Amino acid sequence: MIKDEELFWTNSDGFTISTNKSFLDIEVIHNFLSKDSYWVQGIPKELVRESIKNSVLCYGVYEGNPKDGTAKQIGFARVVSDLVRFSWVGDVFIIPEFRGRGLGKWLMGIITDHPKLKGTNFHLATKDAHSLYAQYGFKQIGQIENRMVRALNWEEVYKGYGLE
Ligand SMILES: CC(C)(COP(=O)(O)OP(=O)(O)OC[C@H]1O[C@@H](n2cnc3c(N)ncnc32)[C@H](O)[C@@H]1OP(=O)(O)O)[C@@H](O)C(=O)NCCC(=O)NCCS
Repeated sequence: MIKDEELFWTNSDGFTISTNKSFLDIEVIHNFLSKDSYWVQGIPKELVRESIKNSVLCYGVYEGNPKDGTAKQIGFARVVSDLVRFSWVGDVFIIPEFRGRGLGKWLMGIITDHPKLKGTNFHLATKDAHSLYAQYGFKQIGQIENRMVRALNWEEVYKGYGLE
């Protein structure tokens, strides 16, 4: 059994990717998602925290090494999965100053190479980054007539957490 908390990668430019949730900087993640993402503008910090807690794998991208306490979080992604047949990857971001130097691709390569994720039916939604994900085997859904979805209902989500 893999201990997910211990997964850790460094690259030659001094960046780190870790799945240790205790290294994550909730301020950085909430700030990006609530202000700069196009998919969860305005999300409360409490719901970001809950989504991290309940995701099987969360990936932090850091400038520096969080193990020595000097790292700055500059990216993130999280995976919801049963680790056998189904996975969903979302909340993928690299903060603007660090984009365009391969970190998003490094992150997606690591996620899709996880031994217990790589075989699963992997889902995601994107407005404009199709060609990024296509490099990791994602394709537009075929047989759309066989797929059904129940829409996100924020009112019910908020109620579920006792939020207004
Ligand atoms: C998408 C994102 C994570 C990419 O991170 P990055 O570190 O800048 O990406 P990389 O430097 O590793 O390269 C991205 C690759 O995907 C391609 N790409 C396709 N659509 C893209 C998009 N919308 N934004 C960025 N890159 C995109 C780039 O052309 C590049 O391909 P290439 O180097 O093979 O030519 C980053 O731009 C980001 O955080 N964007 C805002 C949030 C977002 O849109 N997240 C994805 C939600 S589905």
